[in-house]
Amino acid sequence: MSVLADLIQRRPDAPFEVELKPTQIEEFRTRGFIQIPRITSDEELAWLRQVYDALFTEKRGAYRGGYFDLTRPYDSEGEDLLPQIIAPETRFPQFKETSFWKNGAKLARHLLGVEHVRGWGHMIRKPARIGGSLPWHQDEAYWDPAFDYRALGCWMPLDAATIESGCMSMIPGAHLGDIVPHRHLNDDPNVEGLETITLPARAAEAVPLPTPAGGAVLHHCRMLHMSGPNVSEHVRRAYANEWQTPPVKRAIPYERPWQVEGREAHSKKFGKDLVFFD
Ligand code: NI
Repeated sequence: MSVLADLIQRRPDAPFEVELKPTQIEEFRTRGFIQIPRITSDEELAWLRQVYDALFTEKRGAYRGGYFDLTRPYDSEGEDLLPQIIAPETRFPQFKETSFWKNGAKLARHLLGVEHVRGWGHMIRKPARIGGSLPWHQDEAYWDPAFDYRALGCWMPLDAATIESGCMSMIPGAHLGDIVPHRHLNDDPNVEGLETITLPARAAEAVPLPTPAGGAVLHHCRMLHMSGPNVSEHVRRAYANEWQTPPVKRAIPYERPWQVEGREAHSKKFGKDLVFFD
């Protein structure tokens, strides 16, 4: 058996429960994000770190086009600065058995005020010293503009995320606005990462969110957020699941030209995108 397949089989069964306070639901509504000190067990965290490292050593996604450096054109030479693996649970459904997955779904239901959510995951690795930053963006800016979303991201660092190692910053209340114009980094659609074209008006009000390993930040899909480079001596591994109700098709799609360009560049390189949900 391969190292990875063997590791995956050894998922620890260490249930971990989280509860929200009613004030946190209110906080999510008004500020657009909440932070919780812990979302999973020590045992699961230790297992996830091992699986995570094995996945990134392979440098391949769960499907074609599911691994890339967010900050550089597809297929760039040399060391990746901000590699990402999309939807690892499509290859290893064991990720859906984790406390991180189950707690994220539960918190998302409560915070969004809905009975059911569906999710998909991604892993973003910021290597020590050279890890790239992600400038200001809204996650919904990455998604198909033909739909309306009710969604949030549940982001968990596997290593302490500090200001030095590139923790996230958010602007309280910024989720209440529309999606602002974005472009691909370096204005190159072959780079997956997006940034707002202009600095958000309220960027000076941004709050940095250092987060302990195994803690989590849950943020609305329209929250304006960014993360700095990793200038520390330690890798900053992060795993996030995106939770949503089924998106609703719009009569007239939003105008998000960066999204159309990006999708074209990605499918030209890798073929048709995988559909995560039936
Ligand atoms: Ni984001």
